[in-house]
Amino acid sequence: MSFFTQRSGELYVEDVRLSDIAAQYGTPAYVYSRAAFTQHYLAYAQALGQHPGMICYAVKANSNIALLNLLARLGAGFDIVSGGEMERVLTAGGDPKRIVFSGVGKTAAEMAKALQMGIHCFNVESEPELELLSQVAVEQGLTARVSLRVNPDVDAKTHPYISTGLKENKFGIDITRAPEVYRRAAELPNIDVQGVDCHIGSQLTELEPFLDALDRLLVLVDGLADEGIHISHLDLGGGLGVTYRDEQPPAVADYMDAIKQKLGERKLALMFEPGRSIAANAGVLLTKVLYLKPTEEHNFAIIDAAMNDNIRPALYQAWQDIRPLKERRGATKRWDLVGPVCETGDFLGKDRELALEPGDHLAVMSAGAYGFTMASNYNTRPRACELLVDGDQVYVIRERENFVDLIRGEHVIEH
Ligand code: LLP
Repeated sequence: MSFFTQRSGELYVEDVRLSDIAAQYGTPAYVYSRAAFTQHYLAYAQALGQHPGMICYAVKANSNIALLNLLARLGAGFDIVSGGEMERVLTAGGDPKRIVFSGVGKTAAEMAKALQMGIHCFNVESEPELELLSQVAVEQGLTARVSLRVNPDVDAKTHPYISTGLKENKFGIDITRAPEVYRRAAELPNIDVQGVDCHIGSQLTELEPFLDALDRLLVLVDGLADEGIHISHLDLGGGLGVTYRDEQPPAVADYMDAIKQKLGERKLALMFEPGRSIAANAGVLLTKVLYLKPTEEHNFAIIDAAMNDNIRPALYQAWQDIRPLKERRGATKRWDLVGPVCETGDFLGKDRELALEPGDHLAVMSAGAYGFTMASNYNTRPRACELLVDGDQVYVIRERENFVDLIRGEHVIEH
């Protein structure tokens, strides 16, 4: 069920008309639905059911503290990839015991802080990282619970920039070398080996790559058990895709049932790190048409949101639907929706059949994940505000940046 609906030609989020939000708060603006976030998270929690494990929301998808707080209140855990994301989770009231720490470049300082907070698990991505973690844990007099992120060498069949489970990628430890690294981990001081972790990519629309990866992980787990190294949890990462256009990703429940079935008699807790499948279709980016500029080659509609607000189209040729907030009668044309940034790659959509006039408002759909979190200040553009809708209420969960925010920390020299 979508919480973004069309009613008599106007686009609503829950019970609020998006054109009212645009008029009151201005554009560009990210708008999220509380009900959508909640429903998408609960789909995972309910599918996991009584099986031991945890749903650790991938903070990188959307890290606004209001949203993290809502998820924390629903009982979510969190997958973080930096000290900054850890601070956000803690600020939002997240439980440190429900944090897993992923990422290829953890620093000693980040490790120390995470150990002091007592996080659930480090997803270790390389041997030098494992050695450093042991050293830091010894210095702190604490024990680090770890999973090794293994690279199972499966093709996630997704965009090359968001595919991570192939041998050629920088992520994880080659699965063929994993037993050796587990042996090392088992003998290192202040390291408690708990899990096997993998994340093969993002926006997967088929089950098969997940299940292939799982088959390989289970061979590893069984082999380790024979050697006396007992694994208590599997972390299968994130990656379940969403519908941007006409993709038909598997339902969460089907995904999880297939995984549970494969576990057979093994007593393994299950962890997941979903990001996009919780956040993407819980948010939109509102923008206004500034100018219409039909040329011989293209009809350009220049809008007030740009690649600095949502870089996905420029970076991955990602397609996100673009809808008018109020449907307009009249002739449609094919428009390229381009932003004010001085780059040819600055577009949010191309060849979209729309009836447009200057001043019209549009929504870039499916913008709740990897939208605001990838925004920048390029061209000294303030980052958009973020708004959360709950029923008929609108909350400002992040104010629009102003010029003072933009130059904070900069200094001119005096001579
Ligand atoms: N766990 C790990 C270790 C990850 O690297 C990621 C995403 C996730 C979980 C969450 O994956 P999800 O459920 O969201 O697919 N910026 C790109 C996506 C990059 C994903 C990076 N890692 C985009 O906008 O499509």
